[in-house]
Formats: sequence, C-alpha cells, structure tokens
Amino acid sequence: MISWPISEPVLVDKALMLRPWHLDDVPEVFKICQDPAIQEFTTIPVPYTREIAELWIRTSPQKYAEREKISLAGVRNGEVVLSISLHSIHEFDHVGEIGYWVSSSARGEGLASHAVEMLTDFAFAIGFRRITAITLPENMASQKTLLKAGFELETVLRDGMTRRDGTQTNSVLFAKFPDVKILD
Ligand SMILES: CC(C)(COP(=O)(O)OP(=O)(O)OC[C@H]1O[C@@H](n2cnc3c(N)ncnc32)[C@H](O)[C@@H]1OP(=O)(O)O)[C@@H](O)C(=O)NCCC(=O)NCCS
Repeated sequence: MISWPISEPVLVDKALMLRPWHLDDVPEVFKICQDPAIQEFTTIPVPYTREIAELWIRTSPQKYAEREKISLAGVRNGEVVLSISLHSIHEFDHVGEIGYWVSSSARGEGLASHAVEMLTDFAFAIGFRRITAITLPENMASQKTLLKAGFELETVLRDGMTRRDGTQTNSVLFAKFPDVKILD
C-alpha cells in the first residue's frame, strides 16, 4: 500500500528544495520550456505557451489529490531551476514513472541526478516498489543522469516512442528499486 501524504511534499537538503508549484512560477516555466532540448526530449506541448504553463501549475494540486501525479519545482538559491514529476502511477502495482527537465543555464552541475534521487527516495519511503524512466536512445544526458541516480538499464523498447516529426523510434527503459534490507 502507498501511504500518500495529504499535502504535496516539500523535500529539502543543502543543495536543493523540491516544492509544489506556485502560480508565480509561470513566467519562469514558460521561459525555460522554450529550450529546444526540453521540447525535443520531453512530452511538453509544443508550442509551449504561458497558458499551458499556467494550466499545468493550476491543475497540479488536484492531480496530486487524485493520486495521479507528484509534480514538483526544484529551487536553488530562490530560483526555479528544474521540474521533476512522478506520473503514470499504478498504485496497486506500487509503480510510477519519473520525468524531469533542468533549465539550460543550470545543467552540468549534478542537479538532475540529485533531484531524481530525492524524489525516488521519497517515493520508496511512501511505499513505491519500482520507479521507471524512459528516454530517447540519443538522450545521453538523461541516461547518465539515471545511472548516476541509481537506475538500472532494463531494455530497449522497439518502436516504443513517437518523435515530434511523427516517426516511430526505439526508447530506453530504466528502473530503480528500493534498497533491500538483509536481516541476520
Ligand atoms: C537530462 C538533463 C535533465 C540533465 O540535467 P543535468 O542537471 O545537466 O544533469 P546532471 O548534471 O545531474 O548530470 C548527470 C550526468 O549526465 C552527464 N551529462 C550531462 N549532460 C550531458 C550530455 N549532454 N551528454 C552526455 N552526458 C551528459 C553529466 O556529466 C553527469 O554525469 P557525470 O557525473 O558522470 O559527469 C538536462 O540535460 C535536460 O533538462 N535535458 C532536456 C530535457 C530532458 O532530456 N529530460 C529528460 C527526458 S527523459
């Protein structure tokens, strides 16, 4: 069983805060999501408008309450630098899928792998037993992020994704599991 907290979580350590989205974040999210890499490698709507950013932020609490999704902003020094979410949740099976982006100006500092570890630790603590992530085959930055955050490469899904141009392509499936405690 998943012990779903009533309120959306706030996860904090020295490097980063993961917190629920605020409407004040709309301009920053709109700006960050114009980045071609985010548009190429994630499933955000394209073109990405301010209205889409606002709708996404407005609907996040409801989706959390309905146990559909955990969607958090990553904040460093008071600035939104990343987005991370746990979606495609199947509560009966204790599984969910993680997705993320980092602002182009904050990349290469270990923020993505750190945020992934923070959210997966939280998910395992509330009862998830398997967290997956799916990347395009050429998304080396994301694949390295996942390996660094303790994910294992499971398989290549033949024709598992459709690109923005409509062509079908393989995708790569990763998974992470809670630590197994061995009792003497
Ligand atoms: C993927 C992404 C989130 C990585 O963010 P990041 O904060 O730069 O990642 P990290 O700094 O945690 O780096 C993790 C690892 O990936 C490596 N890496 C980062 N960018 C890379 C690149 N372009 N090519 C190869 N490796 C890369 C880092 O060197 C690091 O490995 P290391 O510790 O062995 O050096 C970011 O590039 C991004 O937002 N991309 C667009 C959106 C996206 O692809 N989302 C994921 C969809 S599946």
